Amino acid sequence: MTDLQIDQSVIDTAARLLEAGELVAFPTETVYGLGADAENPAAVAAIYAAKGRPQDHPVIVHLAPEAPLDYWACDIPAEAGALAAAFWPGPLTMILKRAPNIPDAVSGGQDTVGLRCPSHPVALALLRAFKGGKGGIAAPSANKFGHVSPTLADHVVDEFAMDDTVAMVLDGGASQVGIESTIVDLSRLDTLGPVLLRPGHISAEAIAAVIDRMPAAADAAAPRASGTLESHYAPHTPVAMQERTVLLETIEQLHAAGRKVALIHVSTMPETHAGQRLPPRPAGFAHALYAALRAMDGQGADVILVESPPQQGEWLGVNDRLRRAAHGSTGIVHGLLNVQPNV
Ligand code: TXA
Ligand code: MG
Repeated sequence: MTDLQIDQSVIDTAARLLEAGELVAFPTETVYGLGADAENPAAVAAIYAAKGRPQDHPVIVHLAPEAPLDYWACDIPAEAGALAAAFWPGPLTMILKRAPNIPDAVSGGQDTVGLRCPSHPVALALLRAFKGGKGGIAAPSANKFGHVSPTLADHVVDEFAMDDTVAMVLDGGASQVGIESTIVDLSRLDTLGPVLLRPGHISAEAIAAVIDRMPAAADAAAPRASGTLESHYAPHTPVAMQERTVLLETIEQLHAAGRKVALIHVSTMPETHAGQRLPPRPAGFAHALYAALRAMDGQGADVILVESPPQQGEWLGVNDRLRRAAHGSTGIVHGLLNVQPNV
């Protein structure tokens, strides 16, 4: 981001639009967000309408580094302060008990609130300009509900081009992390301990190293997070994820059946299987993944095949997103080959 020039007059225009109740899309280091004044219920409702998102899914409130946490949350455990000190600004969202003055609209009616201080310089400049740095910007990812999150300003324009709902899109280049923030729930520490609602760039191990407790994986008892729905982050073309050996066979069979395959892979592939190769490390893979899914989606293929990346450790976040992107496509390969799956 070193070559990014920030034009303060553009940032100020965006801040005034937000203060007037308009929607402004802005870059963060994870993905682009569709922002609204978190304390303006009508503006927050406009986000839900623009995204086509169900009303009971809470949105994350983005804060400037200087913003006091206790304006937004109450009963704040010491662990929250420690995690904020370690990872903010950065790709971590904390779920805390909601302060009474926070509108219901933000939290989908729940008694908790998701808070995050992003590190992207444009996001930070916007948060500092908005309401003198004292406000909160409610922002889900700037995509239609269930679709792939945007990692470029162009992706946001593609998502909302036909709408007049988004007043402004701030362009801050490619989001560096590329997948959504890690979400850790600290709102029920006494009974449940910390719970990892969504894996991301900041791993459960990194969180445990700061608070001395390993976050448990989310279960059905955890509050509802839209990113935890089984089918999510999905392109329009069906997605299937396979190990290299199976994948190579599948490609042969699909080609023989006259099917068009778009391929995302990590290992070297034969020349006949031209696709998009992603970096073999988790951070590089995550950075490139959503742009690759969007590019493949535009190719008119019958299926997007993704070579399974490693499953362990820092690969948890991308595996989670790929599993959800592929979820609605169960049986797609068999269907394209007109054979019955062996069940
Ligand atoms: O990286 C990110 O987190 C991006 C950027 C824009 O900051 N935002 C993002 O927002 O991914 P969204 O709305 O697409 O996903 C936020 C997730 C949702 O699954 C939502 O349900 C969950 O956070 N969430 C927000 N507040 C919550 C709460 N109080 N309790 C449980 N889950 C919550
Ligand atoms: Mg989202």
